[in-house]
Amino acid sequence: MYHVTVLGAGTWGTALSILLCKNGHKVTLWSALEKEVEALKENRDTIPNLPEAKLQPEVVVTGDLENALTDSELVVFAVASPYVRKVAQLARTYIRSSQIVVNVGKGIESDTLETLTNVIQDELPEADVAVLSGPSHAEEVSRGIPTTCVVGAKTRKTASFIQDIFMSEFFRVYTNPDINGVELGGSIKNVIALAAGVADGLGFGDNTKAALMTRGIAEIMRLGIAMGCKAETFAGLSGIGDLIVTCTSNHSRNRNAGYLIGKGYTPDEAMKEVNQVVEGVFCAKAALALSKKYHVQMPIVEQVNLVLFEGKDPRTAVSDLLLRDKTTENSSLKW
Ligand SMILES: NC(=O)c1ccc[n+]([C@@H]2O[C@H](COP(=O)([O-])OP(=O)(O)OC[C@H]3O[C@@H](n4cnc5c(N)ncnc54)[C@H](O)[C@@H]3O)[C@@H](O)[C@H]2O)c1
Repeated sequence: MYHVTVLGAGTWGTALSILLCKNGHKVTLWSALEKEVEALKENRDTIPNLPEAKLQPEVVVTGDLENALTDSELVVFAVASPYVRKVAQLARTYIRSSQIVVNVGKGIESDTLETLTNVIQDELPEADVAVLSGPSHAEEVSRGIPTTCVVGAKTRKTASFIQDIFMSEFFRVYTNPDINGVELGGSIKNVIALAAGVADGLGFGDNTKAALMTRGIAEIMRLGIAMGCKAETFAGLSGIGDLIVTCTSNHSRNRNAGYLIGKGYTPDEAMKEVNQVVEGVFCAKAALALSKKYHVQMPIVEQVNLVLFEGKDPRTAVSDLLLRDKTTENSSLKW
């Protein structure tokens, strides 16, 4: 049994706390948001976005960061991407040297274009920072539905430590040394999920969605390889696996926001309606900036940006994608 501290008591942090407690660990769940702490303290049976879930009485819920991090053996960052740096800065005083930290959030920091693991590592230079990602809706994890994820870490030892803590009869965890690849797949798929939602909202069919998913992973993989990540990672759980679940599921806030945009809502109206942080909107700009920085073509990401930030009509965006210059499916395959 380990003492695990989960930072961020939103949907994912709470679902993982339920899993970790079921696995027999001592769990402390912390949030910077007082109302989140109060709500969970008052009612462990009706958790927003997690119908059917109950947070066990053994899970300590607190807003006191020093207490939460004292003697912690694993720190889980489950914070919405725009606030990860701020929370890492708050935590810095209480993090000891070689503290193992695992990021479970998905996103890219807008100003620096860094992955969340790199943001945390930057703020906590003495910590050993890893990532856990994959096709894992909180709603399903909190209900014990069979799920698989992957841990990216600097060493096999750290990856195995985190794997052991999270593994259960319904939550299988693989390991992967390609931290940046695991991060990138999980983040940029949110942009493709927005596009898939738009296609659904416009009333297009399965063909369109399969096209967006297949060409979407090709874009993510091209960028990842240019950034030094491994192609195999994008064929795995944090790449194609997460893309499939996010583009096809009604649980996905990114797909749902895209759906509303396809139905005629403005991006702002869609985000208000979804009423949660829609990470893909933040990530869209960052992904486009990365594609320019690494000179990689990302036409779907480009069109999503035009729809989100320049008022482009989604229908025109789709036809512009279809009528782009003709090309081969895979430029590395030669006749
Ligand atoms: N929900 C899921 O199914 C799921 C699954 C896998 C990964 N994720 C990722 O995990 C991360 C968290 O997702 P979530 O669903 O729990 O989101 P959420 O919006 O429910 O919660 C995000 C949490 O971030 C913290 N936060 C928000 N505003 C803050 C602020 N101003 N200062 C400090 N902290 C603040 C809060 O604790 C909040 O609960 C995201 O990056 C998401 O992509 C979510």
